[in-house]
Amino acid sequence: MGERLLIEEKFIKNLSKDRSPTGKMDKQEIIKKTELFVKETLEKDSTGHDWWHTHRVRNLAKRIAKEEGADIFIVELAALLHDIGDYKFFQGDEEAGSALVRKWLHSLKISPSLINNIVEITSQVSFMHTLTNKSKDSVKKNSVPTLSQELMAVTDADRLDAMGAIGIARAFTYGGFFNRPIYDPIIKPNKSITKEEYKTTEAPSINHFYEKLLKLKDMMYTDLGRKIAKKRHRFLKLYLKEFFKEWKGKM
Ligand code: ADP
Ligand code: NI
Repeated sequence: MGERLLIEEKFIKNLSKDRSPTGKMDKQEIIKKTELFVKETLEKDSTGHDWWHTHRVRNLAKRIAKEEGADIFIVELAALLHDIGDYKFFQGDEEAGSALVRKWLHSLKISPSLINNIVEITSQVSFMHTLTNKSKDSVKKNSVPTLSQELMAVTDADRLDAMGAIGIARAFTYGGFFNRPIYDPIIKPNKSITKEEYKTTEAPSINHFYEKLLKLKDMMYTDLGRKIAKKRHRFLKLYLKEFFKEWKGKM
């Protein structure tokens, strides 16, 4: 989406204006500048990737990071940037988003290894990356031993925000934005949804609970993530129970 690139250009220009003589920024400054850049970029989003989603993910990711002993600065920066390069805003192009994140970090004069670290997180965090192109066993197992603690903290926080009361609100907001019905008993959920299908599905919003939301509990990487997910999962199940009771006119 060209608009994102334009906002980035504007912020990068401003960066060079108020840079200190040494050109270096401290961590707090880097976070503040990134926050303003992300806020403006996500301000107009109504597909569930709004600024407040990022705000919640940032806070929860920091909480998890503290508990797990992960690097708080990396986690906070990656959480802030995790939705900036979402493939959906670049006509499905998964690389364009990473390039945008990389360019932003580069303009902050951050070290190349730290940039790689953050880009690794922002490009891996999406649920879609856990799906394969084959329909059998479409969710990959959480068996990758090389995941960094920082990636785990951000990923768990992002997934938790798709669960519980807020996750439900986000699912229907997303569905409404794309004109999807809330439910249609004729259209069955595709529980082994593939990556391609996930990108293009036009199914009712309730199907998304079975295609993604109810799977998240077992996909947590951290202990605190698992603990919170358990509660949010319970709420999702309770919600569905009530939903179907009402659908049948039994309540
Ligand atoms: P991720 O960034 O992990 O790939 P998405 O971008 O797919 O997540 O989802 C953003 C938000 O929109 C989440 O709350 C997600 O549950 C919701 N969402 C995504 N796809 C659908 C869908 N087909 N129907 C309803 N909600 C959806
Ligand atoms: Ni997100």
